[in-house]
Amino acid sequence: MLYLYAPQDMVRYQHALQQALPQHKVQCWPEEVAVGQVDYAVVWNPPAGFFNGMVNLQAVFVLGAGVDRILKRDDLPSTVPIVRLTDAGMAQQMLEYVLYGVLHVQRQMGQYRRQQTLRQWQALTALSAGQTRIGVLGLGEIGGWVAQSLAAMGYAVAGWSRTGRQLPGVQDYIGEAALPDLLARSDILVNLLPATPQTRGLLNAYLLSRLPSGAALINAGRGEQVDEAALLGLLDSGHLRFAMLDVFEVEPLETVHPLWSHPSVLLTPHIAAMTQVQPAVAQISANLQAIKQGQLPHGLVERERGY
Ligand code: NAP
Ligand code: GLV
Repeated sequence: MLYLYAPQDMVRYQHALQQALPQHKVQCWPEEVAVGQVDYAVVWNPPAGFFNGMVNLQAVFVLGAGVDRILKRDDLPSTVPIVRLTDAGMAQQMLEYVLYGVLHVQRQMGQYRRQQTLRQWQALTALSAGQTRIGVLGLGEIGGWVAQSLAAMGYAVAGWSRTGRQLPGVQDYIGEAALPDLLARSDILVNLLPATPQTRGLLNAYLLSRLPSGAALINAGRGEQVDEAALLGLLDSGHLRFAMLDVFEVEPLETVHPLWSHPSVLLTPHIAAMTQVQPAVAQISANLQAIKQGQLPHGLVERERGY
């Protein structure tokens, strides 16, 4: 039996999973089920205690790319494999999100908006794509696609990862020691890292101020990777000119938070790349079949690494 918790779209997921896996009975939370008979769980942030009593659980399929929340739970035994989504339609959405922010900065749209309020007709100079230096933190399924696609559009792209990744047109920066150099050459910094103990609080006042004066930040990784107070300070001082933020330390962002009304901030409610039912279900059912045949699924999470 497969037990589903998909708060955004329970009915569509149930239908699609049942069609893809006719040999399994797909049941949805909060339906009463015999928890001891649950073989697989498909979830996005289920309520506390959800996994209690699931003694036969063979694997948990996460309906997203990030697994930071599920790895913090105390109701899921550490022996149960966790499988996340790899791309499944999210990389292209993320590229679109990041490109919006890049064009906003490159073509000076913030300044034009300010001029519009003053009814000021004034042309500004814009950097070409080749003059616009973008740094991408995280070169995985999502960051890798974003970095190489921006490079293919002519931007001067560098990418940062733990172990390095050769991507066409992307300068490769590897490991902690290389981060200050990547920051120093990034007019636009794009964060697409997973939240782990190593990346939590990474973008603090010290590292953010290594960005060139007038740089911009696009954060669609996780909120806890950026020190929001430090970011606000650097926006206020003008060292950073713009931030486009999709993720926050606390979500939903508290209504009193100063980021809401900051003139140099464009914020969105964690929508940069949303899980799509059909590709997600296709990937989950292929992975479930792989597990049943004794093969390793794609997107198997390495718990010690945290992603
Ligand atoms: P992924 O395939 O696991 O890639 C992770 C990348 O981060 C890899 O390049 C990895 O380097 C690098 N990395 C991890 N820890 C690092 C460290 N300490 N130092 C340097 N590099 C490090 O992940 P993904 O599928 O691309 O997803 C990335 C993240 O995007 C997710 O975890 C999630 O937080 C976020 N996300 C957000 C949204 C949204 O809507 N806002 C949607 C989807 C995903 P190595 O490969 O060298 O280890
Ligand atoms: C969304 O944030 C995800 O991790 O898929």
